[in-house]
Amino acid sequence: MLILAFPDYLSQAQRLAARLDIDLAEAVLHHFPDAESLIRLPPSLPDHLIICRSLNQPNDKLIELLLCATTARELGAKRLTLVAPYLSYMRQDIANQPGEAVSQRIIGKLLANLFDDVLTVDPHLHRISSLTQAIPLKNAISLTAAEDIGIFLKQQFKHALLLGPDSESEQWVAAIAKDIGFDYAIADKNRLGDQQVTMTLPDRDFCSRPVIIVDDMASTGRTLTKAAALLQAAGCKDIYAVVTHALFCGDAYEHILKAGVKTIWSTDSIDHPSSCIKLDRLLAGAIKAIR
Ligand code: R5P
Repeated sequence: MLILAFPDYLSQAQRLAARLDIDLAEAVLHHFPDAESLIRLPPSLPDHLIICRSLNQPNDKLIELLLCATTARELGAKRLTLVAPYLSYMRQDIANQPGEAVSQRIIGKLLANLFDDVLTVDPHLHRISSLTQAIPLKNAISLTAAEDIGIFLKQQFKHALLLGPDSESEQWVAAIAKDIGFDYAIADKNRLGDQQVTMTLPDRDFCSRPVIIVDDMASTGRTLTKAAALLQAAGCKDIYAVVTHALFCGDAYEHILKAGVKTIWSTDSIDHPSSCIKLDRLLAGAIKAIR
């Protein structure tokens, strides 16, 4: 067994390899001036290769994954496991308008054709309940960072209110709250466009304790920004945020901090200054269970 790490996920893959006590090799990547990718793998591969890379910035990375998996098979790998803590293209699960591509299904099939196992963390599954419905593989495994996030929050706070910004976040917020015995509340969000959301807070006391906004990801950051602005208007002085996936596109991070969030934490599914909650324990446990 060998872990193959991409440069943008190297330190996380090294922690995973150390925890599993297995060897690690780096995939060599080169981007040509016209943006094509060249990828080089170790010419000699074991039967079981674990390819580690989160799929943020998905369009380039999916092509590189196709090149990588195909080459690994040509080099003799019999079993390919993809560890992609952040899995992109999971949000579009229906055609909202006639003619729209249902990317969750299409990308799911592509991954199922390339890999024997796919492991991910807190994928954004909305209208389906299981990852195998999006990625038709027996071993399409959806893990959750709820326990690790809960352990982290419990170290920071004695008591706090967890706030989920929309109904979809309730699955994560409720799990964390139950694990660590914190209270939680769920806001009502409506997305009007990429950068525009409306939200109403539930009727709760937001003034007497810290409030931690919990979500699966921050992309434009407009969801966390709106929640923070409403909390401030409701008199909350102690606002924090935690997300599994730190996408933080463009000015998202600064925008959220400007809205009054004191600190944002995230897991290391994507490398970012906020990524202090490590996922190697969770991922290693899942790999041990399937190998
Ligand atoms: C949506 O339902 C997700 O759970 C997140 O709330 C959303 O993707 C965050 O996006 P943004 O940071 O762009 O508001």
